[in-house]
Amino acid sequence: MKKDYEKQIQELRKQMTLEEKIGQLQQCGPSLVGAFEVSFEELLDMMFDGRITKEEFERLMGTARQDFHEEDLRAGKVGSYNGIGDAATANRLQKIAVEETRLGIPLLFGYDVIHGFRTVTPIPLAESCAWDPTLWEKTARVAAEEATAAGVHMTFAPMVDVAKDARWGRVSEGAGEDALLNSMYGAAKVKGFQGEDLAKEDSMAACVKHLAAYGAGEAGRDYNRVDLSLQRLWEEYLPPYKACIDAGARAVMPAFNDINGVPCSVNAWLLRDVLRKKWGFDGLVVSDSNAIAECVSHGIAQDKKDAARQAVLAGMDLDMSSNSYSAHLKELIESGEIPESILDEAVEDVLRIKFELGLFEHPYQTNETREQNTMLKLEYRAIALEAAEKSIVLLKNEDHILPLKPGTKLGVFGALAADRGQMTGAWAIGARPEDCISIVDALKTNNVQYQYSADGTDLSKIAAVSDVLIAAVGEMKEESGEAASRADITLKQEDMELVRALKATGKPVVAVLFNGRPLAIPELDRTVPAIVEAWHPGIYAGSAVMHVLFGITNPSGKLTTTFPAAAGQCPMYYAHPNTGRPGGKSKFTSKYLDAPTEPLYPFGYGLSYTDYTYEDLELEKGKDSLLVRVTVRNTGKKAGEEITQCYVQMPCAKRVRPVRELKAFAKTALKPGEARQVVLEIAYDSLGYYDWDMNWVSYEGKLNVFVGGNVRDTLEKELLLR
Ligand code: GLC
Repeated sequence: MKKDYEKQIQELRKQMTLEEKIGQLQQCGPSLVGAFEVSFEELLDMMFDGRITKEEFERLMGTARQDFHEEDLRAGKVGSYNGIGDAATANRLQKIAVEETRLGIPLLFGYDVIHGFRTVTPIPLAESCAWDPTLWEKTARVAAEEATAAGVHMTFAPMVDVAKDARWGRVSEGAGEDALLNSMYGAAKVKGFQGEDLAKEDSMAACVKHLAAYGAGEAGRDYNRVDLSLQRLWEEYLPPYKACIDAGARAVMPAFNDINGVPCSVNAWLLRDVLRKKWGFDGLVVSDSNAIAECVSHGIAQDKKDAARQAVLAGMDLDMSSNSYSAHLKELIESGEIPESILDEAVEDVLRIKFELGLFEHPYQTNETREQNTMLKLEYRAIALEAAEKSIVLLKNEDHILPLKPGTKLGVFGALAADRGQMTGAWAIGARPEDCISIVDALKTNNVQYQYSADGTDLSKIAAVSDVLIAAVGEMKEESGEAASRADITLKQEDMELVRALKATGKPVVAVLFNGRPLAIPELDRTVPAIVEAWHPGIYAGSAVMHVLFGITNPSGKLTTTFPAAAGQCPMYYAHPNTGRPGGKSKFTSKYLDAPTEPLYPFGYGLSYTDYTYEDLELEKGKDSLLVRVTVRNTGKKAGEEITQCYVQMPCAKRVRPVRELKAFAKTALKPGEARQVVLEIAYDSLGYYDWDMNWVSYEGKLNVFVGGNVRDTLEKELLLR
């Protein structure tokens, strides 16, 4: 039961001066100073556009020191920090806030704990392929225990931006293209981060992001415009954020993008009408980094003062790093342009989360001993390994080349097979390469006979003494995540050249993919008999891959994003409408002249070392829900876990509906020969949509139900609903 702090909040707020109130709305991060004449942002640009080399940039960085803005803090002008990830610094700054400012209001420390802190687990897109809410909550709990030990109070996660365009780099940070999966993933993460009691010292506030529809950026280009019908916004993009609010998330981060021309940072419909009024959210709204100031370049604010005015009126509480509030709110209040009551609401939201986190009672939530004793605990590592194994998706396994027999001699190729640092993926800012296990590390410590070549040197010599060749290919971690959209999502030329050279030796070749997005890899698919999708799996990358290669683990992961056959198909997703001329053989149908209509691998797809069959699909109309029963049988020789998926189609409605919509799924462990009846439930109130006038319509009429191991290969039944 959430405690009510409203009386304390009001009493404290009434004691605050205008400057102290504005100070509480300022979140800053340590800035780098002293190494260079230009700003850090300018220095970054100089490196990116080649005016200085990466080496020069790193040398300069080496001479930089961090400015923690202590003087501003002492003067009551800072209420929160982003990017403080160690107990000593957090406690030092907290001491200034608590003991040296007039009211002693404690600081709130936010940090990007996206998929682990020191115990880095698979990137969210990978972990979503486990279809396992229990696992998702477990890894979030580990992240909370480690991050709070380092002084973190709030994580800028979960990110639940539905992403249907593989060109977007941040597809790596969420749970893929489906609203239901993102909703369940996000709710599990909120529970794991926040625990049973937010005031406990190992709980941290979840900040769900990025509200809203950041993954719908046109052309998959980061920060790009989002122009969506309200129907699609409500049906396909908003549900995951609501699921996180309903799960108790205490903070929200609006997205950089606009929605239909109004940037989320100044979008009162989004932040007040939807988030607060309709969804009942009473937590904290924190801007994305510099996002308020960027409303000027969006073209909706005259200047930073206008941006500050619009943002605070729209319901943005905290200004992350743009200094718009600290520079202009005083003037806006004193001139009467902004009623002080609006400012008070924002201040109360900040105070509320600080009370709920228990920061007034125990502002020093950690110390260096706790920090030291918490990181990389054995039980955390076990969970990281479990998550890495369950995230792996077996995409191809011709002639059952996998699993490898014990004693198989391997030729291992590709830099990614030995590059520990690349295994953590995007947004692993607390990660250390030395904590990670690469494929080569895992083979070495498990006495597997192997020879390794990063770039194919001695290829023929190594191949000659190897039984099977492993090609570790894909993406560096910098090629996904923020500001990492790619127009061409195929494998790099040098990767395909390596694979072709390996194939030319005549030895069987297994490709292991390390990547942060779906890749268009039809050539790889044509060239090798086996493909293991490992994503960026975190600290136990090598162990998990080796366990799958040798069958110690039977892969069970299933794709949560469609793998296109060509970048030109993007955005490509399974829940698409049929059109009046669905793509087919005849000319005048919806297709490409130069690319297939179908994806390379469909949504929900993933192979196993065993086989499953589906029988006896039955539908039963319950009181509030449709019950779907199916028998799943393990017809192979290995135990495994099968992710059964249930989709519906509303073939005739007031607005055209997708050919498939995921409505339920279940994961079932089955021994060889074992059969189990799986029961899935579809709530009737989930069977609806918005009509042209944005009225919610509960579907009536014929409903097609599909059940199987992926969106394409299913049993089908229909029934008349209502
Ligand atoms: C970044 C990201 C956001 C992150 C924030 C703080 O620009 O958009 O996801 O939480 O800044 O680091």
